[in-house]
Amino acid sequence: MRFDVLTIFPAMFESYLGQSLLKKAIDAGKISVHLHDLREWSGDKHNKVDDRPFGGGPGMVIRVQPVVEAVEAIQSQGDAPPHVILLTPQGRKLSQPVVEELATKPRLLLLCGRYEGFDQRVIDILAPDEISIGDYVLNGGEVAAMAIIDACIRLVPGVLGDEESSHTDSFSSGNRLLEGAQYTRPREYRGHEVPEVLLGGNHQQIALWRAAESLQKTTERRSDLLTPEEIAKRTPQRKRS
Ligand code: ADE
Repeated sequence: MRFDVLTIFPAMFESYLGQSLLKKAIDAGKISVHLHDLREWSGDKHNKVDDRPFGGGPGMVIRVQPVVEAVEAIQSQGDAPPHVILLTPQGRKLSQPVVEELATKPRLLLLCGRYEGFDQRVIDILAPDEISIGDYVLNGGEVAAMAIIDACIRLVPGVLGDEESSHTDSFSSGNRLLEGAQYTRPREYRGHEVPEVLLGGNHQQIALWRAAESLQKTTERRSDLLTPEEIAKRTPQRKRS
């Protein structure tokens, strides 16, 4: 899977790209991330990509010309045409089903805004998939773009050591509930003990315990996830005679 990122702060991604899972996935050729500095398309001797809003108001607006020309240039690179995403608090909200949908695309182009947003004509001309990572306002789309890359790469085959582990992630189509507690050594720390069932090696009992934990945590914290379908899935069916 290929990611292209258009930003005025490409350096924000550098340390992130050099870390653990991401670095391994890049080194193994499973994914590639291409950073593009929007200022290269400013067409301005001061490299300015923003301007004051028509009609007045606070802040600055990202100009249409650098973004459209940068996207056209980036689109013409590589094999697959990218699915263009614009990060904005006004977009559809990111969730695991949306991540699952995005991870099926061979290539994503992530447009990161700053200031008060983009000139509306960026949206009118490019018709991007506008995505928000939550109901709060970030200083720009870079952190949101990293969240999308991070969530997508978990679903790229071969990126996680254990293929199964992304299917059992909370919110994924294999598991819409929260995950229960996990423990590792030591068995006891400051009087806090690991539940006995996890030490016994009875896999059926462990699976039942984990399912009950997950259901209890979801009921306590996120009862909105307990849809009628999820409840039906967990209700033992009586055999018809
Ligand atoms: N840019 C600023 N806030 C954002 C958010 N919540 N999601 C995506 N992009 C953003």
